[in-house]
Amino acid sequence: MNAAFLIQFSYIFSGFCFILGLKMLGSPATARKGNIISAVGMVLATIATLFNNDIDQYKWIFAAVLLGTIVGGAAALMVEMTSMPEMVALLNGFGGVASLLVGWAEYTQKIQITNSIKTFDAVVIILAVLIGGLTLTGSLIAWAKLKDLSLGSFKISPALTFKGQKTFNILLLFTITFVALWFTKDPDLKNVFYFIIGLSALLGIMTVIPIGGADMPVVISLLNSYSGLAACAAGFIINNTILIVAGSMVGASGIILTSIMCKAMNRSLNNVLFSGFGSTSVGGKNKDVDGEANPISAQDCYYLLESANSVAVVPGYGLAVAQAQHAVRELGECLEANGTEVSYAIHPVAGRMPGHMNVLLAEADVPYDQLIEMDDINPVIESIDVVLVIGANDVVNPDAREDEDSPIYGMPIINVDHAKTVIVLKRSMSVGFAGIQNPLFFKENTRMLFGDAKGSANDLIAEFKG
Ligand code: TAP
Repeated sequence: MNAAFLIQFSYIFSGFCFILGLKMLGSPATARKGNIISAVGMVLATIATLFNNDIDQYKWIFAAVLLGTIVGGAAALMVEMTSMPEMVALLNGFGGVASLLVGWAEYTQKIQITNSIKTFDAVVIILAVLIGGLTLTGSLIAWAKLKDLSLGSFKISPALTFKGQKTFNILLLFTITFVALWFTKDPDLKNVFYFIIGLSALLGIMTVIPIGGADMPVVISLLNSYSGLAACAAGFIINNTILIVAGSMVGASGIILTSIMCKAMNRSLNNVLFSGFGSTSVGGKNKDVDGEANPISAQDCYYLLESANSVAVVPGYGLAVAQAQHAVRELGECLEANGTEVSYAIHPVAGRMPGHMNVLLAEADVPYDQLIEMDDINPVIESIDVVLVIGANDVVNPDAREDEDSPIYGMPIINVDHAKTVIVLKRSMSVGFAGIQNPLFFKENTRMLFGDAKGSANDLIAEFKG
């Protein structure tokens, strides 16, 4: 058995780990194991690659692995759960720049050694450089927007639009296509190559700046897909099977996730990328809501919960901010000890990233079989005695169902207003991510328990225990 055979065999095994891992990530019950299996596959693929006969110097590889492990490990340990989208944005950007550098290095080497490049090589090099470059700058802009950075008094997070922007972007795309075709015909033109790198970086910036805060998670998922496609192209450049396999998987899963998120918000990708949602000129109207909200004390809330036969918890972004998942699980246990049936209704885009609520509740060891998806809870929600909305807002806004003028009209929601009683745990009457008022808070069957979600949940636990 020679080294080449062993490497290819390990790659097949790694590919199998990736497929199995991805499949297991589909359910909260198996997601953790799936993550570990995929990571084992990646470690195996990395070790196998080290046996490649073409490697003549290991010192740079080990230095990079050491540095990457320290920086990546520390960042992963330190990152707050609410900052995961920023972290993913940066990781996408690093993936993009890695593919760009592979393309650049191979181009330089091929030009120096052979002074000629085959058309196929020129095509894959330019694809890796183009997609890698736009992923890098696009991801950096996305990261800056999510971090809410500003240049002096100029805020970068809203959708930044200007007159003629679409025309400019279309012209840019045409220019890039033209120059890329020119390069594939005449790859010796180094200046054209560098020009393409610059254009791809500009394209990344131009495509992400018109997108506003509310749509950033969708864009990040799309950039994730791009980083996979860039890696796939890089795999073709250096003829590395596992890079092609892993890159295509990331590319495909990123695009599937993007489409799931768009569907859950009832938006088309076109609308997300080009509508400028999050800029000052949002499509629909934000109406004033008549009526008064009914506040409730923790003690009165306890009486309602104590006499309920069934309680459904609807978590949202505020649960993540308050880090209330452990308190909420404990509250669920108090209710169960009282003979109440408890479930957790999960909206696909609650929070700020896909699966955000599932991850938080899993972290607090909430039993998976108590998690119910939006489509399964809605048909039975009328029979639920009390719905506890914890830090959720847009995903329970009835305007999405009823008001055609609402910017979120058409977004599927959890119909909590159809339950017998709704108790909303939030700090104030502030709006959610979409920036619009929620008529749910003014309905007759709704009570508002004001305060930090963790504090309120702890108050309720104290009532049950006291
Ligand atoms: P939001 O609509 O953003 O509402 C969160 C609410 O939590 C706020 O109204 C806030 O009110 C409350 N809150 C914040 N901190 C709190 C704390 N410490 N304690 C208690 N409450 C707190 O959240 P949602 O209902 O989860 O909706 C998610 C939104 O994100 C949707 O518009 C969705 O389209 C968008 N989005 C999500 C994704 C993914 S993948 N999840 C992707 C793209 C867009 P107070 O300030 O009054 O407390």
